[in-house]
Amino acid sequence: MAEPHSRMIIAVDGPSGSGKSSVCRAAAAQLGADYLDTGAMYRAAAWYCLDQQVDLDDETAVAVAVEELPLHISTDPEHQTITVGQADVTSAIREPRISEVVSQVATNRPARSLLIDAQRRIIDDSGFIVAEGRDITTVVAPDAQVRVLLTASAEARLRRRGLQLSVESGAEQDEAALKRQVLERDRKDSAASNFTEAADGVAVLDSSELTFEETVDSLIGRVEALQEAA
Ligand code: DC
Repeated sequence: MAEPHSRMIIAVDGPSGSGKSSVCRAAAAQLGADYLDTGAMYRAAAWYCLDQQVDLDDETAVAVAVEELPLHISTDPEHQTITVGQADVTSAIREPRISEVVSQVATNRPARSLLIDAQRRIIDDSGFIVAEGRDITTVVAPDAQVRVLLTASAEARLRRRGLQLSVESGAEQDEAALKRQVLERDRKDSAASNFTEAADGVAVLDSSELTFEETVDSLIGRVEALQEAA
């Protein structure tokens, strides 16, 4: 007989710097669930468009590129690898040159719809998965058993993003560049999906005053409460 948790979808949305990727990855690892970073799929699509020299302003050309995108994304929370064809793009998709243009793919409706279909297939194939992004609770998996909007104040988000980028690049990030990356990208992204307000049935988890572990525990607590009730 199937385990009670064997089909549970945990959908988490949130803005840039809310900590959702690290929180969701840690929660998935502790729960023994799969993990899907949908933002990484938009980033991989942007990487491919740049690699193929596709004009990002050309909506049709971008959609065609996304249709043929030879993407593979692992769902192991402890070993995230993303490949496009033979290229391992796991690190490359985090580069600033991708962050600067990824919104152009994310706001391209046909490309978005193709990536949403791919995300739904990955979620269905897994059945026990923490999936995170901007529209998972509302569009990709509105029937998820756990639906959470992970938020944090603008100050907390800028602080965390700054720390993360400093660690990745080994350099201090200047404040204006950070602000542009975090807040400006949220503004652009919000044209494609609403991730600043919780939809009906979506619980808000505000991490501004929580430690990383407390935030992970809070998410896991919601899952375990449901598993116990099942
Ligand atoms: O979370 P992230 O910064 O890696 O996301 C990369 C981009 O993809 C960002 O511009 C937001 C967009 N995105 C989206 O529109 N919908 C999602 N479900 C996930 C990410």
